[in-house]
Amino acid sequence: MSKAAAAKGGSGPAAPAHPSSTQGVPPHDGVPRHVAIIMDGNGRWAKQRHLPRFAGHKRGVEAVRAIVQACGERGIAYLTLFAFSSENWRRPAEEVALLMQLFQAALASEAEKLHANKVRLKVVGDLERFDAKIRHAILQAENLTAANQALTLTIAANYGGRWDLLQAFNRLLKDGKTEVGEKDLAARLAMSYAPEPDLFIRTGGEQRVSNFLLWQLAYTELYFTETLWPDFDAAALDEAIASYRQRERRFGRTSEQVAQSKRAEVA
Ligand code: IPE
Ligand code: IPE
Ligand code: MG
Repeated sequence: MSKAAAAKGGSGPAAPAHPSSTQGVPPHDGVPRHVAIIMDGNGRWAKQRHLPRFAGHKRGVEAVRAIVQACGERGIAYLTLFAFSSENWRRPAEEVALLMQLFQAALASEAEKLHANKVRLKVVGDLERFDAKIRHAILQAENLTAANQALTLTIAANYGGRWDLLQAFNRLLKDGKTEVGEKDLAARLAMSYAPEPDLFIRTGGEQRVSNFLLWQLAYTELYFTETLWPDFDAAALDEAIASYRQRERRFGRTSEQVAQSKRAEVA
C-alpha cells in the first residue's frame, strides 16, 4: 500500500458510489431509483386454489418477469428481489429442493432474455450453500450481463441482513480496521454498488422486514400490500409508486426545511 493510501485509511474496497441517507440527503424524486421487494404470499396463493405450494412459486417467477419489465419501463434503475432468505432453509426439505430447481431453471431460461433487455443481473447472499451447478449458472449470468446499464436486477438468495452485516464486519477485520465509519462498512456490504432503496414493498400482508436489507432500509419508504406475490402486477406496482410519491421524505428535517430545499432546487 502507498503512503497516501495508508494515510487515507488503508486497504479495502473503494468508498461506496452512492450517498448515505444518514450522512446527507440522497437525491430523490417521484420515480424511486431503487425498489426492494419481499415477494411474499406464493404459498397462500396456491393454497387458495387447492394447489401445491410449488404452483405458487412457479407463478411467482412469472410475476418476477412482469415486474422486471415494468420497472425497466418506468425508469427504475435498481430492483432488488428477496427470493430466498437465510431462514428459508428451515422449510420442509422437499419445498427447499423444489425452490432450488426453480431458481436453477429460471437462471437458465432468463439470462439471455435479461441480457437482450440490457438488464444487469446480480445475485447477493451466502452462495456457498448452493450447489456448484447453481453457483456456476449465477456466475455465467452475472458475467454475461455485467456491462448492461438499463436496470440492475439483484436477486437476494440465501440472503440475510445479519449475514450481510457480519460478512462486512469480518472483511473489515481482515483489512485490519480497528475503527470504522459508515463508508467503510457500506463499501463491504453485498450491495455496495447500489444506492439505498427508496421504496420497500412487501406483498402478502405481513408487516415485517424478515431480515432483509437491515442497514440500507434506514430511510426507505415502506409499503405493505395484502396482494399475494403471484398477483402483483404492473398496476399494483403503480399503486405502490403512487403511495411513494405522496410521502414527504424528511430524512430527519422539518417539513419547512423540506419545502425550503425544494424551492432552492427550482430556483
Ligand atoms: C414467498 O412466498 C417465497 C419464498 C419465501 C421463497 P411464501 O412461500 O413465503 O408464501 P406464504 O407466505 O407461505 O404464502
Ligand atoms: C421472506 O418471506 C423471505 C422471502 C420472501 C424470500 P418469508 O415468508 O420467509 O417470511 P416470514 O417467515 O413470514 O417472516
Ligand atoms: Mg411467506
